Amino acid sequence: MNELTGKPIDRVDGRLKVTGGATYAAEFPVKNVAYGVTVTSTITKGRIKNIDTGAAGKMPGVLGIMTSENCMQLHFPAGSDPGAGKYAEKDLLPLQNDRVFYGGQHIAVVVAETFEQAEHAAAMVKVEYAEQTPVVGFEKNALTAYKPASGLGGAETQVKRGDADAAMQTAAVKTDATYTTPVFSHNAMEPHASLAVWEGDQLTVYDATQSVMGVKALLSAMLGVPAEKVRVIAHYIGGGFGSKGFTWANPFLAAMAARQFNRPVKIALARQQVYSTAGRRTQTSQKIALGADRSGKLLAVKHATISETSFVDEFVETAGVATPMLYSSPNVDVSHELVRLNRGTPCPMRAPGESVGTYSLEVAMDELAEKLNIDPLQLRLINHADTEEQKKKQFSEKSLKECYERGAKAIGWSNCPAKPGLTKEGRYLVGYGMATATYPANRSASSAKATLFADGHAEILCGTQDIGTGTYTIATQIAADAFGLPVDKVTVKLGDSMYPKGAQSGGSQVTASVGPPIRAAALGAVDKLITIAIADPGSPLHNQKREDIITGNGRIFLKDDANKGEPLVAVLSRKGLDKIEADAKTNVSTRPSLPAPAPAGSPEAKTEEESKTNMAVQEDENTDRSAYAFHSFGAQFVKVLVDPDLGTIKVDKIVGVMDIGKVMNLKTAVNQIKGGMIFGLGMALMENLQYDPNNGRIVTRDLVQYLVPVHADIPEIEVQFIDRPDLYISPLGARGIGEIGVTGMAAAIANAVYNATGKRIRDLPITPDKLI
Ligand code: MOS
Repeated sequence: MNELTGKPIDRVDGRLKVTGGATYAAEFPVKNVAYGVTVTSTITKGRIKNIDTGAAGKMPGVLGIMTSENCMQLHFPAGSDPGAGKYAEKDLLPLQNDRVFYGGQHIAVVVAETFEQAEHAAAMVKVEYAEQTPVVGFEKNALTAYKPASGLGGAETQVKRGDADAAMQTAAVKTDATYTTPVFSHNAMEPHASLAVWEGDQLTVYDATQSVMGVKALLSAMLGVPAEKVRVIAHYIGGGFGSKGFTWANPFLAAMAARQFNRPVKIALARQQVYSTAGRRTQTSQKIALGADRSGKLLAVKHATISETSFVDEFVETAGVATPMLYSSPNVDVSHELVRLNRGTPCPMRAPGESVGTYSLEVAMDELAEKLNIDPLQLRLINHADTEEQKKKQFSEKSLKECYERGAKAIGWSNCPAKPGLTKEGRYLVGYGMATATYPANRSASSAKATLFADGHAEILCGTQDIGTGTYTIATQIAADAFGLPVDKVTVKLGDSMYPKGAQSGGSQVTASVGPPIRAAALGAVDKLITIAIADPGSPLHNQKREDIITGNGRIFLKDDANKGEPLVAVLSRKGLDKIEADAKTNVSTRPSLPAPAPAGSPEAKTEEESKTNMAVQEDENTDRSAYAFHSFGAQFVKVLVDPDLGTIKVDKIVGVMDIGKVMNLKTAVNQIKGGMIFGLGMALMENLQYDPNNGRIVTRDLVQYLVPVHADIPEIEVQFIDRPDLYISPLGARGIGEIGVTGMAAAIANAVYNATGKRIRDLPITPDKLI
């Protein structure tokens, strides 16, 4: 048991991916497929007066043009159960009326025999608008911000503890500053794409999504098709980072067009269309005030955020979400306000809230340390939160102090210049910076099916998906350990809404959510096999005690006498069985409430019933978690070199030490954290999605103008893990790893730049012009 979990095995899908054998949404070989290209609005606000499709419609290969005038009617999706998926723009269902709320909004779909024909014809569609004055410009409109109800998943947006204003009056040392962050784009390598196929009344959509179950539920609700007639497939996904967590117009447009023109239709968005129609991280302005006594102990923390949303939905970038729990302070005041702009709707992007929130809070902590004349690392230790002070709970497991200690050693923190702007290496100014990283550990109810086949191989089915993070690999390791089989005998199948319902790939929750039911299902299948063996006079384990029998190396045997036992397959073949199956659902959630039980008679209800006799599920579900708060932590350390004449910043070394519970696979885990850290480097130094201040349209519309880090920008990165299992999150002990790597990174870089230059840049990105 547990021999494979944790091992840095290669990705089981690695070969398929590098040889082109992994099939992405737009690549499924569907016969007779037609190509859809959307026409997008060239105005930022107004109404469509007329769409002249005459010339475009007569072009070679064009099958038709779908507009609000001729397309099918959609239904508004009900409810906001996260498991049911979130349609991104609740007040703007695709092509349902003549309104335009942002530049680049989909307003028609041209369908043709080839992509080139569709693209050419789309350019020939003539649109007449009644243009209205759009609301553009974050800064000037931020003055009219309003208080939103709640954030993602119902997160509180207004939090008060004690009396921060009163405490601030008594504080001996204070900081008060405003920090701003620009719009960021997720830039997943694979742009959003959907391929819809109708066979009679049965709809199949191949979609680039972080939630096959969510897209299925939304297609069913919005198209008015029974859920059992909808299938969504996403076997491989080229990254999401949150942009494929909410569902955008593309799968609906593909399904509507496929029905209308009676052909399978594929819509693959261009990068420019992804920028305007498929989410982004919002612009923020964050005012942070800290008050401490002379010893550095925080007395008051105030964090007021203004972010922006669209006119067709409300999304709050909860920059203050971690502020009530990150440090010990008796008095906290966190608030969020929103302003509406004529832009596409924003959405979660890798550590929504924490990534921009830890930038501002952790720079503010650096500013406070300087005023106190205390080492920035020491200030964090003085204010270490031993408990979750807002929820008044213990942390399930927290080794943050060890992260600081190891990170400081690895970067050489003792070399950090005490006074900024004075220390040089050659002609470069040298600076060191650090920050705390944090992200919650989420887990939600999930299920899986395990099958052991008579030929000796085993299979797992789970309706979650691998968005490129390594889920196939980790799930294979978990299942192989539970089956007692080598990795190459286990096949994990994901990314199909026909499989048992698994978690969506968001909130860094997949491993913690689907790992336990995968393990429990595999253990359940083995258990059924052992039960058969015990009852079978032909088995060497006949009449042995259940608790004395274990599995490993493809056999079941006595734990005290490995020779007494038999291969798994021997039990099946003696009974003439071609397979043995087990279903498992673990109904555990770190969210406030569990979803309602599955409807009677449904496949999920059967799984719930079977799970009542599954020992692994029962132990897991019976663990009392009520006293605990689940969070991961880490420490980011950076060394930079700054050219004093040119203002260019070379990040010289980065160290991240992460406490994320048990590491399931060292190789994919290091990949995740490094990816997050590079995300943070881009955020600190270059990324900036810019809108034209006159007409509100996106200016930096491609990867030439929207800068992301390239290899030459990336220094030596050292990732370390505490690797201490969290016994409360699940029997596997893993808390999730997808998002924490980005948190704290921009602050660590900004703090290092200050340490090098003495210049405090409070507006991201820190570009050379701001330093000279
Ligand atoms: Mo993540 S931003 O929760 O997909």
